[in-house]
Parts: sequence; C-alpha cells; structure tokens
Amino acid sequence: EPVVAVVVAAGSGSRLGAALPKALVELEGVALIRRSVEALREAGVADIVVTIPVGFLPLFEAALQGLSVTFVPGGATRQDSVRAGLAALTAPDDAVVLVHDAARALVPAAVVRAVADAVLAGADAVIPVVPVIDSIRRVEGEDSHIVDRSPLRAVQTPQGARLATLRTAHDRIAEEGVQVTDDAAVCEHLGMHVVLVNGHRDSLKITEPVDLILASALLRERTP
Ligand code: CTP
Ligand code: MG
Repeated sequence: EPVVAVVVAAGSGSRLGAALPKALVELEGVALIRRSVEALREAGVADIVVTIPVGFLPLFEAALQGLSVTFVPGGATRQDSVRAGLAALTAPDDAVVLVHDAARALVPAAVVRAVADAVLAGADAVIPVVPVIDSIRRVEGEDSHIVDRSPLRAVQTPQGARLATLRTAHDRIAEEGVQVTDDAAVCEHLGMHVVLVNGHRDSLKITEPVDLILASALLRERTP
C-alpha cells in the first residue's frame, strides 16, 4: 500500500526572523525542507506534495534539486496549507497520508515509519508524542496553579490517516470555520479515535533562533 505525504512549508517563520521563509533556512548547509523530504523518502514515502509560499518556487526547486516532489501554493494558515496539499495528492482514497511540518527537519525515519505502520494496522488518526518536560502552571486571572504534567504529551508530526478520511475531516472543519493546530485534532472533531506513537526529541519544531543552534548540535552528534 502506498504511503504519501504533504509537507507544509508555506509559513514565513516570523518567530525565527530569518530573511527567507523558514523552510529555506539551512541547517549545516542543507535547507530544512530538503532535510524533511529526505527523512520521509528514507522512511519509504512515495509521492510528496510540498506547500510553499507564493513567489518562492525557484528557491524551493533549487533546495529540492534531484528530489521529485509536487509544489502547490500554501494558504493563509497551516490548516489551509494542509488542505491545499491534500487536494493536490493523486493517490487512491485508501492511501496512507502523512502530514509533516517542514520545520521538524530532523524527524527520525523510525518515527515516520511508526506513524505509517499504525495507520496500516487500522488506526483512524495517528500522532507522534513526547512527554512534557517543563513544569506547567495554569494561569487564571491573578491566581496560578501547578498542573500535573505526568499525563500530558507534546504533539509532533508527521501525523497520519487515510487520504479520504483526512480530506473529509479537513473539508468539514473548514466549512464549520473551526481552527485547530494539528491534523489529528481535525479527525478527533469528527469523533475518530486518535492513536499515539512515540515521537523523538530530535524531531523538535524549529521555531526560534535557539532551535537552530540545538538542531545543529544534534546533527553534528549524528554524523561525527
Ligand atoms: N505552514 C504552512 N502554511 C502556513 C503556516 C505554516 O505551510 N500558512 C507550515 C510552516 O511552513 C511550518 C509548519 O506549518 O513548516 C508549522 O508552522 P510554524 O512552525 O508555526 O511555521 P511558521 O508559521 O512559518 O512560523 P511562525 O509561526 O513563527 O511565523
Ligand atoms: Mg506559524
């Protein structure tokens, strides 16, 4: 059964504050988008659609030279970009689709495979998660309270589902005007059960300048 993917890369990266869209920023000489696409390919993903910001096609083509992907313009929000990417996939309805943030450029292939395998094993919607490491407080007006973090998990990507399921879920949520931050939540909104698999610390979402420093250090450790 084919496994296909949408890599969302249409964001500007305002918190990173680079001169280029975040997905084009290089980590140890290789653009984040290229590292993300290569990680998916290494895990055996066949067709890949990449959502990109308007006006940057030549730079994305250069960054992904030699890798065969389909480019589509992204939307105003991540959710809109995912929808645009899903619409561009030509795989059969029951294909497994993974939605991945270009910004999680160091995702291990084992995490990608774990998500795909869980969908192949019958799960409706799958997300990789990691334990929350910070102490968490809930602020309510003037008061604040400690939150027990032991049952909490932080959500990563790629998130997986069957293509027709995820398309339907995204269309429904767009009609209803609901905004959610991840694709499993889109499925959950339709009453589906979300299955969790283990994510990995390396799969951090590069968001602020400090994350690039951390990711560079992780990469150097990988290839001594
Ligand atoms: N994304 C997208 N389309 C958007 C917004 C985000 O495809 N309209 C993608 C980003 O390119 C990124 C992923 O969604 O790979 C996760 O979003 P985030 O880390 O928030 O990236 P940006 O939105 O680019 O960053 P910022 O919020 O700091 O501007
Ligand atoms: Mg954003």
